Amino acid sequence: MTDELLTTYQLAPSILSADFSHLGEDIKKVMDAGVRVIHVDVMDGAFVPNITIGPVVIDGIRDLVHDAGGILDVHLMIEAPERYIEDFAEAGSDWICVHAEACTHLNMTLSQIRAAGCKAGVSLNPATPLSALQEVTGDIDFALMMTVNPGFSGQKFIASVLPKIQRARQLLPDSVGIEVDGGVAPDTIDAVLATGANLFVAGSAVFGAPDPAAAAGSLMGKMAEKARSKTR
Ligand code: DX5
Ligand code: ZN
Repeated sequence: MTDELLTTYQLAPSILSADFSHLGEDIKKVMDAGVRVIHVDVMDGAFVPNITIGPVVIDGIRDLVHDAGGILDVHLMIEAPERYIEDFAEAGSDWICVHAEACTHLNMTLSQIRAAGCKAGVSLNPATPLSALQEVTGDIDFALMMTVNPGFSGQKFIASVLPKIQRARQLLPDSVGIEVDGGVAPDTIDAVLATGANLFVAGSAVFGAPDPAAAAGSLMGKMAEKARSKTR
């Protein structure tokens, strides 16, 4: 199940934009609409200015997500993430993504993620060259390309990253998913779909919408349309 989610079109709503007083209900709404990947933004106040979610929240939502056939996609925006991989894995994470900019020994950290039983991803900030992935293409299950500078939801999409995402699709084997994160919304998703990426994080465009299920459904509709046009 997890493997199939990595390489098919999937919307990954970010709970950073959810209503934390009704977190379980917000997650249930989008999963009922067909979402299977729940994106969790972990920030430490050091790698990025903001402080957000830790393992305790992941543990709190793991059963809800797993029982509905979904997975937890955990995006670590923290310095020296190797200190916390086991904690996040034990809390219920399925995919764990670290920033290339935050890892001194990236190859080792990726092995650590897989050894903990999770799928391993590397994220690149908008200004980080694609070559940061060059030597780890065989060690990752997905790459996460930031289209905002990490730290906050609701920022403006940085379109100049699009050619890098296209080059990432050429560089990486088909078995490696490509996720795009930051400013993905109805007005930007067509351009992102055209790059060959298949995983789409959306925070404010889903949980910031008056009807999160409808917003997720409409973004997933665009993805399904793209999938159909490829098989035609
Ligand atoms: C940014 C986070 C994103 C963010 C997405 O640092 O990694 O996942 O929450 O939010 P939107 O979709 O509103 O840009
Ligand atoms: Zn994220």
